[in-house]
Amino acid sequence: MKYLDFYNKSIQNPAEFWKQQAAELSWFQEPTNILESDQNKYSTWFSDGELNMSYLCIDKHIEDGFGNQNAIIYDSPVSNTKEFISFYKLQEEVSKLAGGLRNLGIEKGDTVIIYMPMIPQAMYAMLACARLGAIHSVVFGGFAPHELAIRIDDCKPKMIITASNGIEIDRLIPYKPFVDEAISLASFKPDNVIVFDRGSSVKVILNEQDIDYETLVSKSSPVNSVSLASNHPLYILYTSGTTGKPKGVVRDTGGYATALKFSMKIIYGVEPGDVFWAASDVGWVVGHSYIVYGPLLNRNTTVLFEGKPIKTPDASTFWRVISEHQVKVMFTAPTAIRAIKKEDPEGDFINKYDISSLKYQFLAGERCDVSTLRWTEHHLKVPVIDHWWQTESGWPMLANMAGVELQDVKAGSVGKPVCGYHIVILDHDGNEQPANTEGYVAVKLPLPPGMLRNIWGNPERFQAGYLQQFPGYYASGDGGYKDEDDYVFITGRVDDIINVAGHRLSTAEMEEIVSSHKEVAECAVFGVFCEIKGQKPLGLVVLKNSNSNQEEQIKEEIIQLVRKEIGPVASFKDVLVVNRLPKTRSGKILRKLLRQISDDLNFNIPSTIDDPEIVNEITTVYKQNNIGQYKI
Ligand code: COA
Ligand code: AMP
Repeated sequence: MKYLDFYNKSIQNPAEFWKQQAAELSWFQEPTNILESDQNKYSTWFSDGELNMSYLCIDKHIEDGFGNQNAIIYDSPVSNTKEFISFYKLQEEVSKLAGGLRNLGIEKGDTVIIYMPMIPQAMYAMLACARLGAIHSVVFGGFAPHELAIRIDDCKPKMIITASNGIEIDRLIPYKPFVDEAISLASFKPDNVIVFDRGSSVKVILNEQDIDYETLVSKSSPVNSVSLASNHPLYILYTSGTTGKPKGVVRDTGGYATALKFSMKIIYGVEPGDVFWAASDVGWVVGHSYIVYGPLLNRNTTVLFEGKPIKTPDASTFWRVISEHQVKVMFTAPTAIRAIKKEDPEGDFINKYDISSLKYQFLAGERCDVSTLRWTEHHLKVPVIDHWWQTESGWPMLANMAGVELQDVKAGSVGKPVCGYHIVILDHDGNEQPANTEGYVAVKLPLPPGMLRNIWGNPERFQAGYLQQFPGYYASGDGGYKDEDDYVFITGRVDDIINVAGHRLSTAEMEEIVSSHKEVAECAVFGVFCEIKGQKPLGLVVLKNSNSNQEEQIKEEIIQLVRKEIGPVASFKDVLVVNRLPKTRSGKILRKLLRQISDDLNFNIPSTIDDPEIVNEITTVYKQNNIGQYKI
């Protein structure tokens, strides 16, 4: 089949196209209302259909005779563990945990926070919630208690499921005390905390409302999947917005399942039974879609990898996993490749393993620089496919759809529109831009299945954040352009969000925290180039007492403050003290200019600047501190 014919069908008659794709799933009740749109043209898919994600990911495959196939391969170099979990075993674990949750009063529509490391129990917990129709919200383990508390207050979970500890290379990170602290910080209090004890040296202290995971499961009886309306929320996943408060992206069940099933075959090119590996974390959207739900829906064996691309134990880990588990398609972030490339520039480790099972290497999460792409192509000798999506979309919007017709790779581009996504580049006034003209990347409504349904508890933010800027379009928040062959190039965010090691972070949130330090008069936080992580945050602060002889101590306190409030994942390690910040005549801080000076972009000094001399001042500070292009 040709890409363009297939794509055009999806745009010309979306209802017919997605009806056919939805038929690939086993619904408890087949949908007859395929596509409806509200007054803003926002789409609702399959509204009268009923299904259950946990059933589709597990029980269906057992009914089809594949109970003995590996559903999950848990490979954890940090705990020296490998576990092969069949669909039978997965069913037993998930249905019994669901039984335990039900005994504790969890019902359809209740919210449950999951704060766990990369262990099978995190997947069991997600699938057990889905089985009951409870809405899970997984919080990434690198977030601090304060961030967890914000999410507790926002989604008001009846229960939190956690573990004794995570493992960061060789450090044990105690999770349970973080949960206790978060609950004490939050106004809302969950009924119970379930704790999975990993049996490490981190001792778990159970409070009155806490329950041991294994005791709960051992005492409970398995339960079956309940039938849920297609629009029933499967999960809430918090992501950074342009304010200090993260936003809870709400995902439906039926549209998401249809889109994921479609994407496994059509984008990633895998067939049921193949081994698929997304080297991410269940706390991110990549983990939700391509460690857990996508592969399991498609009856792929999914690899759950608890480790890092380097240091666990070295830069050969990825290739060992591919070779040992016969991975056919792998997905990671360019950061991971850059980290490996730095340790093993000649790719010597790759040559030590037979990675001939690998057919495609997918990359996403941040911009992929050309040298990383070329290095990966050269050493892996398979098509390396950069593709673009967001927490909001839940699955790729721009890609090279390997399962349809592999297109030539153009370095620097994230490929062409995926079926269902009518991608346009708009100018400030919402006019479509011609080829090779940069603008706002937007999607013309109606959107395909799988896209976010709402922002949890905040429909106004959903409208304002995505639909009001360009009526009739979904605004992605990214800038970019299309070339004459319809290949799209993403140039970066058009807002205050940065991407650090593929992790999406809000500089506005960091600024709020930095400015809360008692010695800070004003500040700006923005992303600067980082060789490994793509971007890293840099904070410039003006102190209240400009003669302070405690600058170094204040800087350290600010760094620790961000680490304490957001967590280590913010990678906030650089603060500089300046006498003043560049501003417009109306007093707005020129953050873009600050970033441009450090990154050596061809910048123009904005005409609105109140004093152009400040550019020299900032340049001097960057030079003195080896920032960006001024690195010696
Ligand atoms: N729990 C607790 N802490 C965590 C954590 C978790 N789940 N994940 C990360 N952290 C901590 C790290 O230990 C580190 O702490 P430190 O400042 O004390 O060293 C900090 O958060 C920053 O982590 P990270 O950004 O991962 O940097 P790193 O230096 O530890 O590792 C890479 C660098 C490149 C190896 C790593 O970023 C990586 O593997 N990136 C791939 C990204 C990815 O898969 N993204 C998913 C989107 S597709
Ligand atoms: P997240 O919601 O965490 O998945 O982050 C989504 C953001 O990451 C997007 O809006 C982009 O800014 C960026 N992003 C994701 N994939 C790519 C890619 N392949 N190339 C460039 N930027 C990307």
